Amino acid sequence: MSPLTVIEARSVSKRFLLRHNASVELKVRFLGFLHPDKRESVEEFWALKNICLTVGRGEAIGLVGRNGSGKSTFLKLVAAIHRPSSGRLLVARQARIASMIELGVGFHPELTGRENLFLNAAIHGLTRREIEGIYDATVEYSGLAHFIDVPIKTYSSGMHMRLGFAIAANLDPDILLLDEIFAVGDANFQQRCIETVKDFLARGKTIIFVSHTTASVRAICRRVCVLEQGEIAFDGDVDNGLAFYDQLLAQKSASGEQEVHAQTANPI
Ligand SMILES: Nc1ncnc2c1ncn2[C@@H]1O[C@H](COP(=O)(O)OP(=O)(O)OP(=O)(O)O)[C@@H](O)[C@H]1O
Ligand SMILES: [Mg+2]
Repeated sequence: MSPLTVIEARSVSKRFLLRHNASVELKVRFLGFLHPDKRESVEEFWALKNICLTVGRGEAIGLVGRNGSGKSTFLKLVAAIHRPSSGRLLVARQARIASMIELGVGFHPELTGRENLFLNAAIHGLTRREIEGIYDATVEYSGLAHFIDVPIKTYSSGMHMRLGFAIAANLDPDILLLDEIFAVGDANFQQRCIETVKDFLARGKTIIFVSHTTASVRAICRRVCVLEQGEIAFDGDVDNGLAFYDQLLAQKSASGEQEVHAQTANPI
């Protein structure tokens, strides 16, 4: 891996097992035994196929694609939440990764905002003293001071997002993985996020940004990768990447395939 590379995917594939009609209930399983048509079937599903991608230090890549195309799965591989089923995913030694992948991932619902902040930062390798050092700034950034001592199961989805992003941003990561961070945040928070992300980039950090909102991809990224059914269908500059994606959506809707994400169908 070259010293300028921070992430390198070499023919990475990810397989999931889809259990159709899975049930833990013994009664239902027994009925399945009597009725073969109701029996559980397990299907292999390749969410990512042979992904080859090199991300350089300081790059801001927009990962776009239809629902289910494999974007979050790719971020989870980089964040080591999942392991590749085949191929290799290399991340620069010593690189600190922070991620905001899915609401609630990395949070414990019964713990308070404060406890989750400490837990999350500790998982990322910060010492107690270091966490105390970033605590005030993180809470300030999140705007959740009033709610920091209540269990986060009572948080709204926007509050979850704020806390997650505030922690990710204040960990001072080398690589920031952002998945749909604008889906639930209000306009003020989105604006602050964009400023923070731009500040990261100015400091030479690397960002992979998953979004269905064209305007925010344009605001943040210099490169776009389009995923389609687990494969990279385009890798290049932002204008061509987004045009390619628009075309892909148009083709799919002409062929009758539904796109369920309203924002994708009508990019801003
Ligand atoms: N843990 C899992 N077990 C089984 N299948 C999974 C799992 N995680 C993801 N998948 C499947 O992998 C495919 C890709 O999912 P992924 O979440 O990466 O899509 P995405 O591109 O992020 O979509 P979206 O735009 O809706 O967020 C989907 O078909 C999904 O059902
Ligand atoms: Mg996703």
